[in-house]
Amino acid sequence: MVFIAVGTPEAPDGSTDLRYIEAVAREIGQRMTSYKVIVAKSTVPVGTSDRVRVCIDEELARRGKNISYSLASNPEFLREGAAIGDFMRPDRVVIGTEGEDDQALAIMKDLYRPLYLNETPFVETNIHTAELSKYAANAFLAAKISFINEMSVLCEAVGGDVQAIARVMGLDNRIGKKFLHAGPGFGGSCFPKDTKSVAHFARDLGHELAIVEASIKANERQRLRMVDRVVAILGGDVEGKTVGMLGLSFKPETDDIREAPALYIASELIKRGATVRAYDPAAMEASQKVLPELICCEDAYDALTGADVMTIVTEWNEFRMLDLTRAKEVMAAPRMVDMRNIYGGASMAAAGFEYKGVGV
Ligand code: UGA
Repeated sequence: MVFIAVGTPEAPDGSTDLRYIEAVAREIGQRMTSYKVIVAKSTVPVGTSDRVRVCIDEELARRGKNISYSLASNPEFLREGAAIGDFMRPDRVVIGTEGEDDQALAIMKDLYRPLYLNETPFVETNIHTAELSKYAANAFLAAKISFINEMSVLCEAVGGDVQAIARVMGLDNRIGKKFLHAGPGFGGSCFPKDTKSVAHFARDLGHELAIVEASIKANERQRLRMVDRVVAILGGDVEGKTVGMLGLSFKPETDDIREAPALYIASELIKRGATVRAYDPAAMEASQKVLPELICCEDAYDALTGADVMTIVTEWNEFRMLDLTRAKEVMAAPRMVDMRNIYGGASMAAAGFEYKGVGV
């Protein structure tokens, strides 16, 4: 059995760059000596398995070999920072095979036998469905986030509370309460890339995925809205102002800054003349490389020193229990833009802060 789990980065035109997966397929064709099940775990556009087969067959033909093999798609749904737990206790396992390939299916199911004890649901399907299922799941979760972010805008317009809205929605079992946290927009190496990729290959097939495209657009707007929020709390102009930024990674418990809202927000504020003093428990080194103008600080209070506003962009645990008296002492003015709704308006007002959350 051979697993393919290589990166599938976004190409400049928004499509998926399949160079690495094709290189691996060729290498398999060059080295294979007996029957193998070749399993794609990478998130790849539908039909990539056909391309993998072409590459392997070309290499086998070059070697003059006639070796049979099976292709399977077994997408992974692991979250960064929770991969082992997600692997051991998956919500489901998807196995896609070509045609009626009982041999490959039996080998794959045997591999996952330990999970039968947990009664993990298995979905056995064809290979194209398996490939698409990962995009469907990620695009839906991304849409859920964009939806609640749009509700947050409406809440602000009518004096509503998006957290209560999320609770009301989430208590409906048909909706579910996860992925309804309003914030600065989704980031990371998966949702932004996968939504663009599925929209792109759908368009190539002559179909517009209106909901996915809207989720991407809403996400871009949400990031910009966070920039505007910082500008607004500073009186409409950030030139010469200092922003203390807490959190840079795209989510807590990772140093990953790919498509991180914080980096976008920081660079927009810097472009408009602000100084950004930042602290993140894990992502400073990587952030400094992509945004050299960022002032990386020792800890949260160092980042807040002289700041005209505090922004919480990533909800690391250590930002949930800030010493607000100390923060106020070191800041130039007590203002907070809480992009993760960690603190509440009433408690922050009591602490003497001008406060702005998201949709509250
Ligand atoms: C995501 C999926 O959750 C995994 O199931 C999938 O396997 C993975 O992509 C992948 O394709 O490999 P991940 O990117 O690690 O996992 O991160 P998530 O925990 O899903 O968060 C993604 C982004 O959405 C983060 O920026 C997070 O802050 C944001 N988010 C999440 C919200 O803004 N609100 C929420 O309610 C939930």
